[in-house]
Amino acid sequence: MSADQTDRIPDEVIKRLQDASRVAVLTGAGVSAESGIPTFRGEDGIWKNYRAEELATPGAFQRDPDLVWEWYHWRRDIVSAASPNAAHRALVRIEEMAPAFVLITQNVDGLHLEAGSREVLEIHGNLRRARCSGCDDTVHLTDEDGLIECGKCGFPMRPDVIWFGEELAPDILERSFAAAANADFFLVAGTSSVVQPASSLAWIAGQNNGFVLEVNLDPTPLTGHADAALPGKAGDVLPRLVEEVWK
Ligand code: APR
Repeated sequence: MSADQTDRIPDEVIKRLQDASRVAVLTGAGVSAESGIPTFRGEDGIWKNYRAEELATPGAFQRDPDLVWEWYHWRRDIVSAASPNAAHRALVRIEEMAPAFVLITQNVDGLHLEAGSREVLEIHGNLRRARCSGCDDTVHLTDEDGLIECGKCGFPMRPDVIWFGEELAPDILERSFAAAANADFFLVAGTSSVVQPASSLAWIAGQNNGFVLEVNLDPTPLTGHADAALPGKAGDVLPRLVEEVWK
């Protein structure tokens, strides 16, 4: 296909989003990649250089809380220096235009909220917050915060993110499943679609007659099953989608 054809947004995708009354979106690290935040499984992905078991599990935190905090402070420094990109801003625009909208994100960088998205479900948490390992009280972290103890119960505070082997917050999970089941347009952007339960949301949407659109740089296990798949950078494709739908 010629360049303009590969860049063109298919008419059916445009019409589906124009006619959609309940839009739901699932985003992953690929949406923040153009803000300079490394993804997890790409060429220079985080899991290529760090072992998740040593840094992103409850056991790692019990064994060496200082190391885990050090790693999250490093990640928070990267996130603090990052700004929302055109993909984040395009999703804000879709929320403004859609009659009903929910943004479910696996990202813990807080960039959707910073961009102005309002109905956001941070299913893996947010590394700009700390949570008490005893009473679950949460605090917003400022940049100079070190390893802190809970002001309420004295237990160690941990990053407010979901680690491997941990359950997602039941209410957020329930709202995510409901949003996927009710969506008539489900957009999946910038995720390898390999981590559960997030990666099951697109299947739930499809099984409930939702139109599933994937926007991703590389093929994923979802690509062949989505109703439409647009290869490319989210910061390029999503603004073009918004432009075509709401000219
Ligand atoms: N635009 C669109 N997609 C991109 C871009 C981009 N600019 N850059 C990378 N991608 C795609 C990659 O092709 C890849 O498929 O984004 C996807 C990122 O996949 P992962 O690195 O696996 O990140 P993600 O899917 O968010 O991981 C899910 O795994 O480690 C856990 O908790 C962590 O939330 C994370 C979860």
